[in-house]
Amino acid sequence: MQEIYNAIQTAAIKIDYAIKHEDKGYSELQNATGDTQLKLDIQCDEIIEEIFSPISSIKELASEEKEGPYPLHKNGKYLIGYDPLDGSSLADVNLSVGSIFGIYENDYSGKNLKAAVYIVYGPRVEMVTADSDGVKMFRLESDNTFTFVQEITLKEKGKLNAPGGTQKNWSPMHKKLIDSFFAQGYRLRYSGGMVPDLHQILLKGGGLFSYPGTTDVPNGKLRMTFEVFPFAFVYEKAGGEAIDGTKRLLDLSPKHIHDTTPCFFGSKEEIKKVRNAYAND
Ligand code: AHG
Ligand code: MN
Ligand code: MN
Repeated sequence: MQEIYNAIQTAAIKIDYAIKHEDKGYSELQNATGDTQLKLDIQCDEIIEEIFSPISSIKELASEEKEGPYPLHKNGKYLIGYDPLDGSSLADVNLSVGSIFGIYENDYSGKNLKAAVYIVYGPRVEMVTADSDGVKMFRLESDNTFTFVQEITLKEKGKLNAPGGTQKNWSPMHKKLIDSFFAQGYRLRYSGGMVPDLHQILLKGGGLFSYPGTTDVPNGKLRMTFEVFPFAFVYEKAGGEAIDGTKRLLDLSPKHIHDTTPCFFGSKEEIKKVRNAYAND
């Protein structure tokens, strides 16, 4: 696993450089979800593919920017599902973006996720790893090495609310739920990038990030393999919870690697309220 973490660090340094200095325009291409790919999305995917390719413990890659799985070493142990550049359109407005990695065995189901890693490219570059050792944060230093900063644990209850999705398409029950958090004094913190939004909640002790099913996208927008399962794993290891409204996210399995699901990540208290609201709908 350490070899994979080291490869992610090498990729992160190159991606950080690409975000800061390379072409920011759109390509002519669309990814499997139908998003028009930025040249940066494709470039970051290529950086990761190139760095992962020689690692013999990796059997296969599945990328948000690739149509299907990409085989590497047939005797490898791990499958890696990744989003090379999450929130890529935010790079244009100079907000934080990220990369997300799920390290699986056998298949891309939540129960087979063994470790998760994400990188935040912001004023600082930070890496968070979640595995059987808990959740740890590292920061990129001026000598291009990542040094350990702190362990991350969530409190029982937080103060931040990051409600995703187009509000006019929320169900009345979901709107009532989100309003109830604000009525209790929760503060809005939403940049439109799940990596910095979820990172902020983790570092500030807790709260709720949601991306529900809506009338226009009944299964939400966020993809299980590359985005949802890795963060569900991080939140659980940090002492929080992650559900789709009623079920634990890590009990789900995608039929196709690009499948999406409604998702809620938070500390225990907030997730309890979500579960109650969705159960009684
Ligand atoms: P990506 O840039 O990889 O397509 O994903 C962006 C995601 C996620 O970071 C964010 O929370 C969500 O899209 C925002 O969606 P809206 O555009 O619907 O707000
Ligand atoms: Mn994404
Ligand atoms: Mn992406």
